[in-house]
Parts: sequence; structure tokens; C-alpha cells
Amino acid sequence: MTSFGRQFGLTAATYDRVRPGYPDALFEMLADGIPSGGSVLDVGAGTGIATRSLLRLGLRVTALEPDEEMARQLAARSEGEVDVVIDDFEHYRGPRRAFDAVVCAQAWHWFEGPSALRRVRRLLRSNGVFAAWWNVGTIVNARLAGELAVIFQQTSHRLPVLFRRPDLTATIGNLARLLQGDVSFSHVRTLHFVSSVSYSSDAFVALMSTMSEVLALAAGDREQVLDRVERCLGDAVIEVEYLTLGYLAVRA
Ligand SMILES: C[S@@+](CC[C@H](N)C(=O)[O-])C[C@H]1O[C@@H](n2cnc3c(N)ncnc32)[C@H](O)[C@@H]1O
Repeated sequence: MTSFGRQFGLTAATYDRVRPGYPDALFEMLADGIPSGGSVLDVGAGTGIATRSLLRLGLRVTALEPDEEMARQLAARSEGEVDVVIDDFEHYRGPRRAFDAVVCAQAWHWFEGPSALRRVRRLLRSNGVFAAWWNVGTIVNARLAGELAVIFQQTSHRLPVLFRRPDLTATIGNLARLLQGDVSFSHVRTLHFVSSVSYSSDAFVALMSTMSEVLALAAGDREQVLDRVERCLGDAVIEVEYLTLGYLAVRA
């Protein structure tokens, strides 16, 4: 089994096609705190799902992404002032106190919280905005959710985040506590948005194929899980309710 968090490139094009985006209202809230045409560091930018929303607001984005295939998709699909940097957050030495905003969509859980927040502090100018958020899904059909959970428990031994894993809930809570306990940040606000998506069974299997818990399996095991998921779904339409959850704070 390969390490989590570093294998999204195996599925970059599918990832970009099937992963849900984030609500416009979230980006409007962010834009309120960023000067027009301001600079944003997008940490763990992936294929650019959040990057493209930031660019549409006329912001200048530095997209930091360690996976070359994800970064290649991002560069190919993004229009506007975007600078793609292939590096991980732990090693990135960006300009000190320079960015108007640092954002992290669906990636903060790969970092050790306190040291990642120290790096955010170093990169943000005074009054700069930090925000990190996640899409947390719930499969509306509880019976189907239960059957899928059993498949994942038996094969990947780890549930994808669509099943509201307690460790992700803990990570989100830890970020709130870190921000509230750090005098370098103020005006901590909760991000909380609701949306829903209906998936065909093919689209849902494709979505599952982009989950790190599935990507971390050996190729044969990965196929086996996805086959079982496909058989379980039949021709069902799968309704997923998403909560986009996270925090926004302002650098002193
Ligand atoms: C779940 S994806 C989120 C991508 C994108 N932000 C989005 O909203 O779709 C997590 C991303 O974090 C990246 N990542 C993993 N470890 C990282 C690290 N140490 N530093 C920066 N990015 C990292 C992965 O390569 C992946 O592209």
C-alpha cells in the first residue's frame, strides 16, 4: 500500500471531472477580505477546482501542488494569472508576509496542524485572510450507505470521507481550536454551506476511484473494491448531501 495523500496523480483527469466544487458563496466571503486583483496561495491545489473559482474573481493565484500530474491538469485547465509551483507545503519557501490570502481546499488534513499554521503565518501579510475547508458528504440512502461502508471496511479498511469519518471531524475541530488559540489570527469565522449532487452509478464509481483510501490500494485490490461498489449500486441514482465546512481567519 502506498502512502495516503500522494497518489492523486493516478487519477488526475477523473478527479477533476467528478469531484464536487465549492459554493460560490464561500468564494464571495473570501473575496470580501481580499483586495481586488490580490494574491492568493492555494495550498494543495490539485487539478485546480478551487483555483479556477479564485481566478474567476480576478485574483492572482500561486497554485502549490506536489503531484506533477495534478499540477499538469491544473495548468491545462486554468485561465488567468496563475503560477503553478510543484512542491509540498512542508518545503515551500514562498515570500515572507506577501500573500493577501492563503487557502487550502480539502488538503489541510495532510499536514501537521501547528507547523502548517506557522507556515501560513509566515506567508500572509497583515490583514491577510486564511481559509481551509472540506466537502463532507453523506449518502442520503442510509441502507446503501451501510452496504457501501461494509465493502470499504472489508477491502480498504478505511472509509472514504463521504462516510463522515470521525478523524476528519476531529481535524476540522482541531483547526478551529488552533486558530482560536493563536494571537496572530483574529475574526475566526465558520464556513458552513449545504449542497447536493445526484450521481449515476457510473459517476459514483468514478468518484470512489478518486478517494485516497482506494488509490492507496494495490491495482488489483482497487479494481476489486470498485467492482463490488458497482455491483452494489446496480442502476441506482445516488444522492449525496455535501456540507462544505471549514474556517476563515484574519492575520494580525
Ligand atoms: C483532496 S486533494 C484537493 C485538491 C484541490 N485543492 C481540490 O479542492 O480539489 C488534496 C491535494 O493535496 C495535495 N497534497 C498532498 N500532500 C501535500 C503536501 N504535503 N503539500 C501540499 N499539497 C499536498 C495532493 O497532491 C492533492 O492534490
